[in-house]
Amino acid sequence: MTGFSRINGTLTVDGIPLEDIAARFPTPLYIYSAATIRESYTRFAEAVAGPKSRVHFAVKSNSNLAILRLLGSLGAGADIVSGGEMQRALKAGIAPEAIIFSGVGKSDAEITAALEAGIGQINAESEAEVMRILALAGSSGRSSRLALRINPDVDASTHAKISTGKSDTKFGISREAATDLYRRIAESGVMEPGGLAVHIGSQIMTLEPFREAWTTLLEMARQLEAENLPVPQLDLGGGIGIDYKTGEPADIEAFGHLVRSIFGNEPYHLGFEPGRFLTAEAGILLTETLYTKSTSGKRFIIVDAAMNDLIRPTLYEAYHRIETVADKGAPIGAADIVGPVCETGDYLGLDRMMPAIDKGDLLAVFSAGAYGAVMRSAYNTRPPAAELLVLDGEVHPVSVPQRVEDLLAQDLIPTALQ
Ligand code: LLP
Repeated sequence: MTGFSRINGTLTVDGIPLEDIAARFPTPLYIYSAATIRESYTRFAEAVAGPKSRVHFAVKSNSNLAILRLLGSLGAGADIVSGGEMQRALKAGIAPEAIIFSGVGKSDAEITAALEAGIGQINAESEAEVMRILALAGSSGRSSRLALRINPDVDASTHAKISTGKSDTKFGISREAATDLYRRIAESGVMEPGGLAVHIGSQIMTLEPFREAWTTLLEMARQLEAENLPVPQLDLGGGIGIDYKTGEPADIEAFGHLVRSIFGNEPYHLGFEPGRFLTAEAGILLTETLYTKSTSGKRFIIVDAAMNDLIRPTLYEAYHRIETVADKGAPIGAADIVGPVCETGDYLGLDRMMPAIDKGDLLAVFSAGAYGAVMRSAYNTRPPAAELLVLDGEVHPVSVPQRVEDLLAQDLIPTALQ
């Protein structure tokens, strides 16, 4: 039994009762299933399979070194957006050539480090950035592929804060500006032209926005080739949504079918940058009930995880399924599941039908393997949740638990104040 499932009513991860794990490690805890990551990766890779396809895991969705190592061992490259993520990917053993550096504002230090490390491809997002990359490559004598991220002006119909494909967002280069800029890269003799890239947003639930964006990308690639400009690769981005309400896997076969229907007969190498699809369902946030309270008809379940551990509900009004670990019987009514942070926005779930809950009851917050631990903070001086990986039947800590002493040690008091 892999992933998160109930055995005799109690919730387990890869067959191990979550109660046993909570008895060994203090909550709140992120718990990942390596088996689920393997399954998701295999499904994705098979759906887009082809001699010219390459999967670059979007490191930002879960950058734990153990997760990167696992995905790297399965054959994934990396899509990174900072010098820090580059160091993570390299440390996890991902080959520099298999790394794509995306992002709208790369610093000189990051560009230089990427060139020195021999990163396979940099995706530039503005004319100014292209010029800077060419200048730094010219002066360092190092080179790699330089691709242009196009803004296809497509509405991904997702949450406004994670929608990146419309022309009024900060992302990418307009179709009009791209041809001239691409020619300048090709003629620079400094960086190799690396093709075109798109990424129109995240948590996209229908195929239509992908079809629109990719069709535009293909038209542009043909146009560049018609002008004798080489287009070795098209980077199709990430963004595949998952069903947070049910946990049912996304129809990745339909996604693969769309890829083939558009690019099946084309000569281009294809790059994919999935994040959420590969890791979200492989993780939960495990939390323990501290108190329950009822006020004027409202029930609150106060747990030991908070917005500093999982910010998605607060930041994006995101829905994460929440279930009791033990079988607590039928729901008795709605409740808000909230954390101890002093803000009304500190909640993990609102208005959820929940059974009777007692102090000490464990709750699992599902689909937390992507954009969960990576976005945690120590707000309210709360040591954020540590991470565990269940790998081949064994439970491994994969991050060092932070103590309050560790948090305090990051601050400095000037001598004049001592
Ligand atoms: N490639 C690029 C250039 C990206 O910016 C992103 C995500 C991805 C790939 C991966 O997208 P995915 O397959 O994971 O959807 N914190 C937000 C999500 C932000 C996504 C930003 N870019 C959340 O919690 O929903």
